[in-house]
Formats: sequence, structure tokens, C-alpha cells
Amino acid sequence: MEAIRNIVVLTGAGVSAESGIDTFRSAGGLWEQHRVEDVATPDAFARDPDLVLRFYDMRRAAIQEKAPNPAHEALARLDREWPEKPGHDLLIVTQNVDDLHERAGAGRVLHMHGEHLKAWCTACSVRSPWRAPLIDRPPCPACGARALRPDVVWFGEMPYEMDRIYAALRRADLFVSIGTSGAVYPAAGFVRDARALGIRTLELNLERSQGSAWFDETRLGPAGKLVPAWVEELLAD
Ligand code: OAD
Repeated sequence: MEAIRNIVVLTGAGVSAESGIDTFRSAGGLWEQHRVEDVATPDAFARDPDLVLRFYDMRRAAIQEKAPNPAHEALARLDREWPEKPGHDLLIVTQNVDDLHERAGAGRVLHMHGEHLKAWCTACSVRSPWRAPLIDRPPCPACGARALRPDVVWFGEMPYEMDRIYAALRRADLFVSIGTSGAVYPAAGFVRDARALGIRTLELNLERSQGSAWFDETRLGPAGKLVPAWVEELLAD
């Protein structure tokens, strides 16, 4: 088998589950007692902005109480040690809007679905770091307009930095998917893109996902155990 140099890791809600953050599809399709269409679409925001802002205020406050788990820590170790080897590179693409990869120390993280800890001004388009509630319509730090929304990608909106993700996939020789159900595109399609490019594919997940059949290898178990073991194995090679 050819040597592995460039790795693209895709993470989903399962990587943060052991930190106490609910996954999306764990409660029968309800998300903190809300239907996703009631809180995570541009239509929902237009129809009932208070409901949507309150919901995201709650999630934003909740993630600040949580801490990274051994899966985040292992990926941060990979981020530190892997690119030190000559010609090696790594990109962690996350669907998660929490900041637990960063708090564990990882730097090469791309948030394709946005970030809870940023607010996006719909008047001037500037994105600002944000920790406080948005429900009281605070002014945008850049332009002063009271037009901030959560900087998260809603259903029907285009995920961020797709060009950078596909460029990294084209250079990769290993694609690893961790803790994602494979239910939401375009992320769910990365495994097929990787296969078409001839890249080796590995899945680490608690249970078989909708995309499992597409992976060369699937390892089942909690991310807090599987990810440290995989990183150890890779760095020892
Ligand atoms: P899901 O909730 O759809 O899937 C989470 C996956 O993680 C499932 O396959 C679980 O089996 C697995 N899982 C749960 N606990 C785990 C653990 N301890 N270790 C390993 N795996 C575990 O979440 P995502 O796939 O991330 O999008 O959802 C994708 C997108 O759908 C989200 O980013 C969000 C949502 O709607 C937007 O908000 C745009």
C-alpha cells in the first residue's frame, strides 16, 4: 500500500457526543425538542426570528459549558505531530459548530457548517466573534446595525469553503470520517468523491452509518476510544 501523507478528516456530532453535546439524530429527529425546519432554515428565521435566536442563544451558552473529550484531544495531537513529518499535511473538516476541536488545540480546522461563537451581520456581511445572546438584537461591532444572525449554515444554504475542501480531497491519500450519520449533503458525499479519486477511506462511528458501505474500512465504537487508538497507530507507523 502507498504511504499516507495527506489526510482529510471529516467530523460530525458523534465526535462531541462524549462531551455531552447532543447529536442531531439521537432523539427521533427532534433537535432539543424542536423540528429542524422550525429552527435551522432561513424561512424559520424570517417567520419567527425570536424562536430561532433564542434556540441558538441556548446552544451557544451550552457549548461554552462543555469540554473537549479524548477524541478531540487525539485529533489535536494529530494536528500537532502529523504535519511535522516532511511532505505531510492534514485538514480537519468539521460539520460541528462547537469550538471543541480548537479548544483541544487543533489549528487546521475548517467549519463547513459555521460556528456558534460567531455572529454574521446581514447588513454589512462582517462576521464577528460572539459569545453573548443575540435575542436582544445587539448592534454589529463593525457597522452598528442591529442585524446579527448566528453564523451557522442553515438547511438550504451553501456550506462554507467547499472549494478548499475539494482541493484538500484531491491532494489526499486518506479520508477519515468520524461520528457522522452520513445523512446531510454535501458532507455525506465526500466518501464517494474520495473513492472516485482513488483515496483510501476509513470510518470511525458508534454504529453503521448511511454511508458505511462506501468505506474501505469501518470501525465501530465510541469516538473517545476509537480516535486515540487510530491516531496512535498512524503516528507509530
Ligand atoms: P448526526 O446526529 O446525524 O449523527 C451523529 C452520528 O454520530 C451517528 O451516526 C451516531 O451513531 C454517531 N455517534 C453518536 N455518539 C457517538 C460516539 N460517542 N462516538 C462515535 N460516534 C457517535 O450528526 P451529523 O452527522 O454531524 O447540519 O449531522 C450532520 C449535520 O446535520 C449537522 O452538521 C447539522 C445537522 O442538521 C447543520 O446544522 C447544517
